[in-house]
Amino acid sequence: MQYSIQEHYQNLAKQYDDFWDTSAEFIEFLTKKIIEHLQLKSTDILVDLGCGTGIYSKAIRSQINLDNKIFCVDPSDKMLEKISDNNHYQIVVKDAVAFANEPGKYDKVLIKEMIHHIDDKGKLLQGLFNRLNEQGILLIILLPPTIEYPLFKQALSVYESVQPHYNDLVNLCEKVGFKTTVEFIDYTVSIPKKQYFNMVKNRYMSLLSRFNDEEIEQGLIEMREKYANVSNLEFCDRFVFLIAKKLTNVNPLSTSDH
Ligand SMILES: C[S@@+](CC[C@H](N)C(=O)[O-])C[C@H]1O[C@@H](n2cnc3c(N)ncnc32)[C@H](O)[C@@H]1O
Repeated sequence: MQYSIQEHYQNLAKQYDDFWDTSAEFIEFLTKKIIEHLQLKSTDILVDLGCGTGIYSKAIRSQINLDNKIFCVDPSDKMLEKISDNNHYQIVVKDAVAFANEPGKYDKVLIKEMIHHIDDKGKLLQGLFNRLNEQGILLIILLPPTIEYPLFKQALSVYESVQPHYNDLVNLCEKVGFKTTVEFIDYTVSIPKKQYFNMVKNRYMSLLSRFNDEEIEQGLIEMREKYANVSNLEFCDRFVFLIAKKLTNVNPLSTSDH
């Protein structure tokens, strides 16, 4: 059966955290990079837009004390149900574009592996630019145009045809007034083949919701053949970090040679 994106995450919510259960080191590594690139400080108001089950909000809080609750925003109430601590998280069941175009002011916004679900990216970015305080930072984390995941061929090919290119996002960010930089963060994933195949079977990536049960089974047959002689899969997981800064109060005279 194929699902819409909303149904996909509603169905996935129960298992989502289990997929990343054995990846504490990976989450800690990426969280350090997130804190660094958001230049996060304790007084910041942070929004985790498309936060899912809050894996990264929780990991951020475990590495840095924040005075304010983190806004955890996601349209999937089932994903959000996994964040039970209302003392530290402000749960908002909402679509990102709607949220970004409502009143509110923040210092930092994290969008991790969610931007590909947004149709009107310009409206989202304009809204966020308006909501961010001066010196505010938006960090968009997404996968690159091609990936080295040990998936079946058709999945990789569909991925390449639908994944937004970070350069297009850079252009959109610059158009609404952000100053942007891009960095690539690599992590070598090592995962038991059995575990990864099970994740694929359960459509751990929304990409896989584009394939029906039969196509997933065919894909798994292809993967079983390709990786017949290995028990562990190793591959490079590359993340694009698009850092967009709102530098509205920079006085051009102060940067010239006088
Ligand atoms: C791949 S998950 C990433 C979750 C989380 N950021 C993480 O890295 O663990 C994508 C999330 O985006 C959410 N999402 C989908 N469409 C959205 C939208 N229009 N606005 C906000 N979030 C959305 C999904 O519900 C899901 O929780």
